[in-house]
Amino acid sequence: MKALIYKGPNAKAIEERPKPEIGAPGDAIVRMLKTTICGTDLHILKGDVASCQPGRILGHEGVGVIDSVGAAVTAFHKDDHVLISCVTACAKCEYCRRGMYSHCLTGGWILGNSIDGTQAEYVRIPHADSSLYLIPSGADEEALVMLSDILPTGFECGVLNGKITPGATVAIVGAGPIGLATLLTAQFYSPAQIIMIDLDNNRLAVAKRFGATDTINSGDGHAKEALMRLTNNRGVDTAIEAVGIPATFELCQQIIAAGGTIANIGVHGVPVSLHLEQLWDRNISITTRLVDTVSMPVLLKSLSTGKIDASQLITHHFKFAQMLEAYDTFAHAAETKSLKVIIEAD
Ligand SMILES: NC(=O)c1ccc[n+]([C@@H]2O[C@H](COP(=O)([O-])OP(=O)(O)OC[C@H]3O[C@@H](n4cnc5c(N)ncnc54)[C@H](O)[C@@H]3O)[C@@H](O)[C@H]2O)c1
Ligand SMILES: [Zn+2]
Ligand SMILES: [Zn+2]
Repeated sequence: MKALIYKGPNAKAIEERPKPEIGAPGDAIVRMLKTTICGTDLHILKGDVASCQPGRILGHEGVGVIDSVGAAVTAFHKDDHVLISCVTACAKCEYCRRGMYSHCLTGGWILGNSIDGTQAEYVRIPHADSSLYLIPSGADEEALVMLSDILPTGFECGVLNGKITPGATVAIVGAGPIGLATLLTAQFYSPAQIIMIDLDNNRLAVAKRFGATDTINSGDGHAKEALMRLTNNRGVDTAIEAVGIPATFELCQQIIAAGGTIANIGVHGVPVSLHLEQLWDRNISITTRLVDTVSMPVLLKSLSTGKIDASQLITHHFKFAQMLEAYDTFAHAAETKSLKVIIEAD
């Protein structure tokens, strides 16, 4: 089969690989129908993710068809259409029993990281019963690809951890696919104001279409002042960091109102200052989280009833053979105006 291989920092290639086989009774082999590329795949390609070694097939998102299952798999059968969670869960270990699938002792985020991933014709999914979701017949399978990672990430790490309540004032720093997925799911809770902050005017315009009440381009270095004008000098009840660099986490600390919550989503590669000298008396909370995908059943329902339209996040389509072009388009989002790209089986 053909697969997209991480060849070491700044190198990738499409190569021929053997089709994966059932290795444990809980495994399933899935024939991929549609996959996509994540900002995290770009982090891996920069050499930022030490657990992902050269030779790995990348990808942790997608939908496909069950090709075969191990003897212990009971929830899925050959030819079932399935959604793949970016997080693998055994459903038995201490962390899984606490709903923290991201820290599963034999799973977590392993796909396209420490085991081969979904940017291939076939993928092996361990703990298939608790890591795959049956796709309801008639569902928009392409839109469901947005559920593998970005919608649960925005919802769990941003909206739920950020404790958004009706009438609240919210800022989301970063209007990439994750920030926009946060914006879509934040609206479940009817906050009064959602202010999106980014450097890219195209993405801010998309955010306005997706329901942001206000947008700020922080390129001039005066985002804090602009936000304070929009909030009567009060700041926001929830500040969500969806970039992963020191400047944006520092901005969240400058704009948080008394009693508020800073919810970090971004993957950080370098230290960030915590300004306790300014925050110690502000009654604030700070949360961090690796997505657990425990919200998958709820989000599946919200997508299938049309409560959220995830297809809006998809901007480009490629065939599997065009995978390198798809990476190029996704990596140059400012020029290509790309959000999520879909890569389909040939
Ligand atoms: N916690 C988790 O479980 C989890 C899961 C998936 C992704 N992530 C992380 O979430 C983050 C966002 O992911 P994404 O795919 O949307 O990334 P992305 O790179 O597509 O989007 C980031 C956005 O931030 C904007 N930006 C960059 N610098 C900025 C600045 N100084 N001020 C304001 N905006 C700025 C960019 O213009 C872009 O629109 C990444 O760090 C990613 O690794 C975390
Ligand atoms: Zn991802
Ligand atoms: Zn587990």
